[in-house]
Amino acid sequence: MSATKTNRTTNAKLLAWVEEMAELCQPKDIYWCDGSKEEFDRLCEQMVEAGTLIRLNQEKRPNSFLARSDPDDVARVEHRTFVCSEKEEDAGPTNNWIDPAEMRKTLNGLFTGSMRGRTMYVIPFSMGPLGSHIAHIGVQLSDSPYVAASMRIMTRMGQDALDVLGDGEFVPCMHTVGAPLEPGQEDVVWPCNETKYIVQFPEERAIWSYGSGYGGNALLGKKCFSLRIASVMARDEGWLAEHMLILGLESPKGEKTYVAAAFPSACGKTNLAMIIPPEGFEGWKVSTVGDDIAWIKPGKDGKLYAINPEAGYFGVVPGTSYHTNPTAMKMMERDTIFTNVALTDDGDVWWEGKDGETPEHLIDWRGNDWTPDSDTPAAHPNARFTCATSQCPTFDPAWEDPNGVPISAFIFGGRLTHTFPLVFQAYNWQHGVYLAATMGSEATAAAVNQAAIRRDPMAMLPFAGYNMADYWSHWLEMESKLENPPKIFRVNWFRKDENGDFLWPGFGENMRVLQWIAGRVNGNAEAVESPLGWMPRHQDINWSGLDFPEKTFAEIMDINTAEGRAEAESQKELFDSFGNRLPDEMEAERQALIARLEAAPPVWRVAAE
Ligand code: OXD
Ligand code: MN
Repeated sequence: MSATKTNRTTNAKLLAWVEEMAELCQPKDIYWCDGSKEEFDRLCEQMVEAGTLIRLNQEKRPNSFLARSDPDDVARVEHRTFVCSEKEEDAGPTNNWIDPAEMRKTLNGLFTGSMRGRTMYVIPFSMGPLGSHIAHIGVQLSDSPYVAASMRIMTRMGQDALDVLGDGEFVPCMHTVGAPLEPGQEDVVWPCNETKYIVQFPEERAIWSYGSGYGGNALLGKKCFSLRIASVMARDEGWLAEHMLILGLESPKGEKTYVAAAFPSACGKTNLAMIIPPEGFEGWKVSTVGDDIAWIKPGKDGKLYAINPEAGYFGVVPGTSYHTNPTAMKMMERDTIFTNVALTDDGDVWWEGKDGETPEHLIDWRGNDWTPDSDTPAAHPNARFTCATSQCPTFDPAWEDPNGVPISAFIFGGRLTHTFPLVFQAYNWQHGVYLAATMGSEATAAAVNQAAIRRDPMAMLPFAGYNMADYWSHWLEMESKLENPPKIFRVNWFRKDENGDFLWPGFGENMRVLQWIAGRVNGNAEAVESPLGWMPRHQDINWSGLDFPEKTFAEIMDINTAEGRAEAESQKELFDSFGNRLPDEMEAERQALIARLEAAPPVWRVAAE
């Protein structure tokens, strides 16, 4: 079939690219996705027949499916992810790099004939509301119907995106599972290849993904486009593409504050994006704009406006319950594709950490019988749900606003059992960029007070599409485009006491910290100056509905200055790895922190002020 025989688009570049890629990959046919519900239902039905999807009990989980991936294709593969800029130093020391000419040659070889026996889906999509000036268009070519169906949930996919594209520019996203079918060869339920390549070409703004059908490796609008390629576009065009949730806080008086927050993977980002205000916060509302990615552009008024470029959630399921995240639980009650959770005997799904009793019998994520005596988990720890943002009961009324929502604060946090207080505010933009650049999580939570920090600057370590030091420079330069830039905060929900118990109750109680942050932004919350930044005193936080004594507050806020100095010293290794590309401001901030800590008493206590 000729790719040019379509009346869907007249975009000559797109038509020529589809034709060229079809010649390379040799699919048995080409299908242009229109994005309709009928098409989605048809794809799902085909996958049920092929065994890729299992239809769940219609009564318990209407219009929902379970997919089980190949056991070797269960997560993003960072060690197989490459940023192939023309020059190695432009990718920087935190990215894998291979010469782009060499990589093109390798990929050409791998993609030749890679779709034989399969359909090539042409998947046009918009990251961001259709037609928004903050949005961008991509087109993915894929031989996976699971990817085509998932892209309809995760993005604005189909004819509408093609119409917005017109004759304009798009980001080409090439994807194959790398499992061609020879004539007569029977297919497997989850085709993939043990060789995997997730490749970004930043100058060309192109993505090539080989060998995986899973998540961020295969749904190329997500990490590959919206973070790696978009961060490069953002640098060149003066905006920010960030690994951030976006939420709105509304006070009982109707004062609305939007914040964007970055946390490394596995720090409860989806839970925070959907936080339910606890007892004592009557009249407060929290609404969700996004849980993973934010595209943020300066407006004419000098404020930053953010959109969530995605249209769906691809969230981790294990650990999610009506206690930890009732909103997510409600979202996945229907119209959801689950991947790698367990199947109950009555055709529903189960995972570790779900509310209620553990069933006596399940089929685990690998398709085997499972009982509570089994010594492997029933659901894979990285099992996921995929469902539309519109199913989120707390979605913000402005989540589809093409102009985005105004961001008043940035929050950065890691998983740190010691040294770092519950919350503090940067003195200014430059100090905030330094705090964000040096964040991280402990590599292991096993040993209290001993674990080393795995630095994850701005939670972008695996996602910045260029040299991380240049990315910091870009953040620093953004200040000049802004009037009254957003305030920047660090948080840490994970500090432990000397017995190794968490000091902070977490989940809904994080609302107390969010309220203080909103208060700082709106000029109605107090703080005192500490060696780390501005900090709340016990009386500056709203404790109604929670017994959180001043003594425990002191423990979670104390600054041990020797520990703080050791932390500042250990940041040097990160900074040194960037050589002369490190912006001077970063080292100046580190030195200033050391000087402040040296001048402070051994334990600096906020309550003492
Ligand atoms: C994700 C991640 O899957 O950050 O969102 O790893
Ligand atoms: Mn993420």
